[in-house]
Amino acid sequence: MKILVTGGCGFIGSHTVCELLDNGYEVVIIDNLCNSKKEVISKIETITNKKVLFYEGDVRDKELLHKIFQDNTIDGVIHFAGLKAVGESVKIPLSYYRNNIDSTLTLLEVMQESNCKNIVFSSSATVYGIQESPKYVETMERGKTSSPYGETKAMIEKILEDLYASDPTFKITILRYFNPIGAHKSGLIGENPNGIPNNLMPYILKVATHELPELTIFGNDYDTIDGTCIRDYIHVVDLAKGHIKALEHAHKSNPNIYTYNLGSGHGVSVAEIVTAFEKVNKLKLNYKFGARREGDLPEFYADPSKALKELGWKTEETLEDMCKDSYHFIIKEKGE
Ligand code: NAD
Ligand code: UD1
Repeated sequence: MKILVTGGCGFIGSHTVCELLDNGYEVVIIDNLCNSKKEVISKIETITNKKVLFYEGDVRDKELLHKIFQDNTIDGVIHFAGLKAVGESVKIPLSYYRNNIDSTLTLLEVMQESNCKNIVFSSSATVYGIQESPKYVETMERGKTSSPYGETKAMIEKILEDLYASDPTFKITILRYFNPIGAHKSGLIGENPNGIPNNLMPYILKVATHELPELTIFGNDYDTIDGTCIRDYIHVVDLAKGHIKALEHAHKSNPNIYTYNLGSGHGVSVAEIVTAFEKVNKLKLNYKFGARREGDLPEFYADPSKALKELGWKTEETLEDMCKDSYHFIIKEKGE
């Protein structure tokens, strides 16, 4: 089977491409490299000892998408391409709506025109918004998202639902990721954003490597076990494997629209991550407690039982693995 991976040079995309190649799939990538580097392709090829076909370009470029579908028999698409920085999306919402919505519409139009009707879409736990229970389950209604970024995810889910209602020959899988961290065991691929990171693990890595002086833990007065916020962190390789399971499930299932949480099901506090990171990597992190970050929820984590029951997927990597692999990647990246 040949899979088109949009955004395949990015953090989650690159790990998923490795899993696809390791599982015998052929892979075609389209990425405009707006948040990734071309070198990722050769790293993927080194890791897997397989070749990928790479088109450098924008998913909004309909002509290019048509060419890709004409040049290749695409059996399914995994759609990662999109902008993902929550804070930035508040500052430049139009860019987020333009990029994330336009690219999805263009992709879906070309898929329909090319009679390719199998898509896996990267959604986010952010679509749940604020719920009464911190354990998010797929039967909950989508909530009020906290940013234009989150809104694009909710809108795309709705677009996919409307598409399926109009054309029930589509197989659509929506995967709602919780907090992906970690890196490939090889240390060749991982997440290393430019500038000052917003997300916790990239920030910890910059403090651990002395690029930034100190981590601020946003709030220690929440009503949680130790006062810091609780999230469901998931190793990016476990997340990548979830996509293989989703494709296998779609292959043997009837056309439909399926939605799954991809998370561990366990809440971990910021303080627990810091402690685990220090212990497993045998170092001390410089940190202080600061004010709460606006918009943060005290606690949320996945109910991943639907993915286990229907996809046969669950996380395997531990918090220690996530901390170890993230650090291994950044040390290697900096040493190169
Ligand atoms: P990433 O930024 O590392 O990867 C996205 C890739 O898409 C990048 O390589 C970028 O260059 C490319 N891209 C963006 N717009 C494009 C366009 N119009 N045309 C072609 N390429 C384009 O992000 P990631 O962490 O790998 O996330 C992948 C997907 O998963 C995104 O849709 C993101 O919103 C979603 N997601 C991520 C997280 C997370 O915490 N990382 C959580 C939930 C959902
Ligand atoms: C964010 C996004 C969410 C996205 C997710 C995964 C927001 C509001 N939500 O979630 O849409 O799906 O990333 O990438 O941004 N923290 C600190 N100090 C820091 C950075 C973070 O204490 O310097 C804390 C935060 O308060 C939070 C936890 O670490 O409690 C995780 O933060 P982060 O990695 O930004 O992810 P989320 O906010 O959960």
